[in-house]
Amino acid sequence: MSKSPLAEDLQIRDFSIADEACVRDVTVAAFAQEAEANLLYRLRHCGALILEKVAESRDGKLQGHIAFSRVTPRATGRGQGLKVSCLAPVSVWPHYQKQGVGSALIRAALEQLRSCGEDLVLVLGSPTYFPRLGFDADLAKKVSGPYAGNAFMALALSEAGQANLPIEVAFATPFEEFE
Ligand SMILES: CC(C)(COP(=O)(O)OP(=O)(O)OC[C@H]1O[C@@H](n2cnc3c(N)ncnc32)[C@H](O)[C@@H]1OP(=O)(O)O)[C@@H](O)C(=O)NCCC(=O)NCCS
Repeated sequence: MSKSPLAEDLQIRDFSIADEACVRDVTVAAFAQEAEANLLYRLRHCGALILEKVAESRDGKLQGHIAFSRVTPRATGRGQGLKVSCLAPVSVWPHYQKQGVGSALIRAALEQLRSCGEDLVLVLGSPTYFPRLGFDADLAKKVSGPYAGNAFMALALSEAGQANLPIEVAFATPFEEFE
């Protein structure tokens, strides 16, 4: 993780619905378009999200946000009992990027998911950024569904998440409308 005075001033806490407007702003700013913020809204309001966290400075300025939605294994094979989620989106205000905020958010959220008994996390993102945080495109080759390629990566949080593959998965419905 990048070290900086800013990162050391960070607090990571659970999302509250009072953060919704600020989180939309940070998501639009980070991606420079509205599509990911719209996806996030739909995921949240269809009940697909299993975890949302925000990063803020000690004086209460929101710097970043991360969300995870439920992914459903198909009801065949030994992987059907796995608890699987998708990391998307993760956003840091452009002004605060490259100072460790994204890594701190991702690490804190993964630790919480691990302690809740989650087995596997999937992500579609930068093949140079996410491997730094343990995501692996080779592991994701054992996960079949709508996504493939080197931007599709997986991280096992448990022994079962590594061993009980391959699996076929379905993502939450809002991903089908996402372009
Ligand atoms: C991706 C993102 C969340 C990372 O957050 P961050 O706080 O900037 O990242 P960190 O400070 O923890 O890590 C910085 C390092 O990651 C690299 N990095 C950041 N975003 C990257 C990207 N999209 N692709 C490749 N590398 C990236 C930086 O160059 C930097 O590298 P360095 O340590 O060698 O200088 C942030 O850049 C962002 O909001 N991007 C726009 C939205 C996005 O693409 N989200 C991911 C897909 S869901």
